[in-house]
Amino acid sequence: MELAPVVAQQLVNEALKAQERAYAPYSKFPVGAALLAEDGRVFRGCNVENASFGLTTCAERNALAAAVVAGARPLAIAVVGNQHDLLPCGACRQVLAEFNPDLVVVTRSSAGVLTTRVLRQLLPEAFTLAP
Ligand code: THU
Repeated sequence: MELAPVVAQQLVNEALKAQERAYAPYSKFPVGAALLAEDGRVFRGCNVENASFGLTTCAERNALAAAVVAGARPLAIAVVGNQHDLLPCGACRQVLAEFNPDLVVVTRSSAGVLTTRVLRQLLPEAFTLAP
């Protein structure tokens, strides 16, 4: 699926809003995500850390969970952090691939330039259970 540049920018703007809500007192690395669903709705997610560090949840998975509980399915996701072209971690790639291996992933450089990739490029041959 192609994402119009104006839509990609809107999604990044939503992700930046989500980043403001990040709870990241330990890493001090706030991350925001915004997921565009098939029905046009947008779901935000931020990272939510915990004193028991391993319980931290990433922004992307929190956005996906918000979409799933609302009955939505993902078409695209934008991810932003205080690092240029922040890409979803491996665990998030696998969880996102469960719902859409052709998900469009939008990232942003420090200069504000957007890059669009397809999840399949980031996680080729994702694990699936045989039907
Ligand atoms: N983090 C995300 O939210 N998404 C990613 O794709 C990479 C990492 C968060 C987890 C942790 O709260 C912080 O960034 C530093 O790893």
